[in-house]
Amino acid sequence: MMADNPWKEIEDYISEINNSVCEDAAALETFRIRFLGSKNVVKPIFGQIRNIENERKKEFGQKVNELKSVAEAKYAELEIAIKQSTKSAATQNIDLSLPAEPFKQGSRHPVSLVMNRIIDIFEKIGFVTAEEREIEDDWHNFTAMNTPDDHPARDMQDTFYLKDSVNYLLRTHTSSVQSRVMTSQEPPIRIIAPGRVYRNETISARSHCQFHQVEGLFIDENVSFADMKQTLLYFAREMYGPETKIRLRPSYFPFTEPSAEMDVFMGTADEKSRKLTKGTGWLEVLGCGMVDPNVLENCNIDSKKYSGFAFGIGIERSAMQKYDIGDIRWLFENDVRFLKQFSTVI
Ligand code: PHE
Repeated sequence: MMADNPWKEIEDYISEINNSVCEDAAALETFRIRFLGSKNVVKPIFGQIRNIENERKKEFGQKVNELKSVAEAKYAELEIAIKQSTKSAATQNIDLSLPAEPFKQGSRHPVSLVMNRIIDIFEKIGFVTAEEREIEDDWHNFTAMNTPDDHPARDMQDTFYLKDSVNYLLRTHTSSVQSRVMTSQEPPIRIIAPGRVYRNETISARSHCQFHQVEGLFIDENVSFADMKQTLLYFAREMYGPETKIRLRPSYFPFTEPSAEMDVFMGTADEKSRKLTKGTGWLEVLGCGMVDPNVLENCNIDSKKYSGFAFGIGIERSAMQKYDIGDIRWLFENDVRFLKQFSTVI
């Protein structure tokens, strides 16, 4: 139905718009549909322009435009007001007495836990952490470490070579860090090198083709076997308790002379220790020895002036012993059910 007086109609709408208040988003939407929607109330008024006398047509057009802009401005204003009131309602409704959402914390991997513990122990007596590449060349992994091509000791460690390469391999031990450090630093050298190593071994509950070691290297003037023994005893007592007993058994590594393996006494009192030590009470923890003079010379260190000791600690076995882990493969499967058991261990 056409209104008799479109001029008055416009004035009425303008005052209606100016007096509008919207409580919520639904009311705002009703306002929008009424004044700005595709079937808004302004359109039919504009259609009445043909009934307006010619000399006032322009004025009428301006008036309709004014109505439109008043509606748009009011809509923007109402929209802001509603947004603000919703926000403040949300803040007012916070119940501060509610318990907090549970915070899911990650956990350290048992291998990292043991590795970090070992690093801490040696850093306390001045060893500095050195990290090196896992893809190594033959020279740093074997040749420099007194293990030339035809050396039978190469068979001790089944090596993964990179495809089509005789020179590049996945390091078989962290001893490769020894040659890296000795060729780039001057003695005195006192480093600890944690990292992952690889050997082409059959995967079972007790062995894997990847595992971790922490290498130690100490080179200075007049370093003796007694220095090594004392350092390793300190380590064992920090790691396994102040009363811990160790023993060094003669062994063989191409890069150390003499070489030894260190066992820690676990006792035979409980079932767990007996199983772990195959009934002997002694657990093999690391390989060690005095750095072979050939290794020093290969790395351009004067073997007449300097001597040193080195050791390599296997991590997985310690972690399995410490946390009672029955299968080495669990350490590499990243099963959350396994890992989350360590979330309370620091
Ligand atoms: N690299 C030896 C191994 O992987 C361990 C070792 C390190 C022995 C340093 C002596 C000295 O078995």
